[in-house]
Amino acid sequence: MKSLNEELKEVVCIIKKYMEAEEISLGRDSLKERLLPPSGARPATVKAAKPTIDILKEEALSCTRCDLSETRTNVVFGAGNTKAALMFVGEAPGMQEDLQGLPFVGRAGALLTKIIESIGLKRSDVYIANVLKCRPPENRNPLPTEILTCEEYLIKQIEFIKPKVICALGKFAAQTLLRTQEPITKLRGRFYDYHHAKLMPTFHPAYLLRNPQDKKLVWEDMKKIRKELGANNE
Ligand code: URA
Repeated sequence: MKSLNEELKEVVCIIKKYMEAEEISLGRDSLKERLLPPSGARPATVKAAKPTIDILKEEALSCTRCDLSETRTNVVFGAGNTKAALMFVGEAPGMQEDLQGLPFVGRAGALLTKIIESIGLKRSDVYIANVLKCRPPENRNPLPTEILTCEEYLIKQIEFIKPKVICALGKFAAQTLLRTQEPITKLRGRFYDYHHAKLMPTFHPAYLLRNPQDKKLVWEDMKKIRKELGANNE
């Protein structure tokens, strides 16, 4: 009968052969080093994988899926808190947005900031994106093919951010997300179930700049959003 020592030697021999076969080379102490970090040392941290939304952004920044890529200055992917409970979705970048690569930084953006602040939030609390990530020339309306080509980015952004409430600003955002042709005047003012979120369509800030008399309707919609967010926090 083999002694324990002999059995151990056999096991070591088998391991050595296996390592030779697998071309694993270890110095005398290296197995111990690999298994046990030097005293006081923290275990090696695994390099964090890039968040999906950053990978999506990288993809969008070099997107050439439609002709808008030929006329844009910058892709306007979206900005803000990627863990936001409230997400705004606009139509498409305008001139200022195209130049700066950021959403809602022009006159309509200044009004959107006020709208956000009217319910006690800051821009940095929310996430803001558009249906189209590139500016249509002369700010013309988005074409159906452009919306179809680009909406995948928006849907993935929503999936990543998982907001509790989405505020669709204007007809293009509301109609795109709700898959309807109903006018914004009919759509606004109530919540729709949108996957796991509540979606509130309201007027676009650029429309409000031309029709300030309708600001009170947006205020009504924003109060509903504030209540819904509050209900979610209880
Ligand atoms: N209008 C939009 O719909 N989006 C912007 O980013 C700016 C203006």
